[in-house]
Amino acid sequence: MGKLDGKAVIVTGSGRGIGRGIALRLAQDGANVAVCDVIIENAQKVSGEIKALGPKTFAMKVDVTKKEDVDALVAKTVAEFGRLDVMVANAGIGVVKTSLDHTEEDWDKTLAVNVKGVFFCDVAAARQMIKQGHKGYLGSGGKIINCASIAAHGGWAYLPAYSASKFAVRGFTQAFAKEMAPNKITVNAYCPGIVGTDMWTLIDEKIGEYTGAKKGETLKASVDALILAKEVGTPEQVAGYVSYLASSDADYMTGQSVCIDGGIVLV
Ligand SMILES: NC(=O)c1ccc[n+]([C@@H]2O[C@H](COP(=O)([O-])OP(=O)(O)OC[C@H]3O[C@@H](n4cnc5c(N)ncnc54)[C@H](O)[C@@H]3O)[C@@H](O)[C@H]2O)c1
Repeated sequence: MGKLDGKAVIVTGSGRGIGRGIALRLAQDGANVAVCDVIIENAQKVSGEIKALGPKTFAMKVDVTKKEDVDALVAKTVAEFGRLDVMVANAGIGVVKTSLDHTEEDWDKTLAVNVKGVFFCDVAAARQMIKQGHKGYLGSGGKIINCASIAAHGGWAYLPAYSASKFAVRGFTQAFAKEMAPNKITVNAYCPGIVGTDMWTLIDEKIGEYTGAKKGETLKASVDALILAKEVGTPEQVAGYVSYLASSDADYMTGQSVCIDGGIVLV
């Protein structure tokens, strides 16, 4: 028996990276998983991997900045799995430039995916969860899990819009947790540190264009200087924590944005 047996789960941006790791882990825990991404081919691949594990799954092309896409995703999840228990609003992007180099478009694009996308996903999920009702205790109404970052606890140079967006996710997570508590829905965020995905390949390369650091040097220097463990994080490590947040073990936890980062942010 998996700890999420039969739970109906959505993971956004789950075609690769941390989202893929979360989708696979929740499926290993027994959940039925809606896999969605702007890159449909990647979502289809991950959904295929989940099918091989046994749970129900489907892949869908979803742009989280489009409310109609997000509403259609929740509707399809309910049509396929009968209900919605867990929303993981994972999709996010980073524009790696100084503030002086950020264009208005860079700013708007980052906030659209990272903040508005989370807002659309959370509200659409909550509307469905409220319809389903609860059993009278916190956590029994559903679980909403947002992707923030260590950049939600301290701003990062070269990632100004990204840092602002992740602070916004943390603030919204707190506000929505307060609003959803009467419905017994928990709202939490996970804050990854430095995880070896395409996003960090981009950060390493783009910061190097400013500083002259060669490929891989910014990543290595950041890991050595910032992480107590001196190890790059993996999607699987982040997914382990999200699996906890999605489970009944985390029923009494809400409004939190906890770092899973090998010891960068100590609170
Ligand atoms: N990698 C890290 O070190 C790190 C650290 C802290 C936080 N995060 C956060 O983790 C999350 C996942 O990041 P990752 O490292 O796996 O990055 P990634 O770039 O490997 O994956 C992000 C996925 O989101 C998808 N996506 C982008 N825009 C989308 C949209 N509008 N609608 C739907 N899907 C969209 C992409 O196609 C991609 O599959 C992001 O929210 C990111 O900010 C990552």
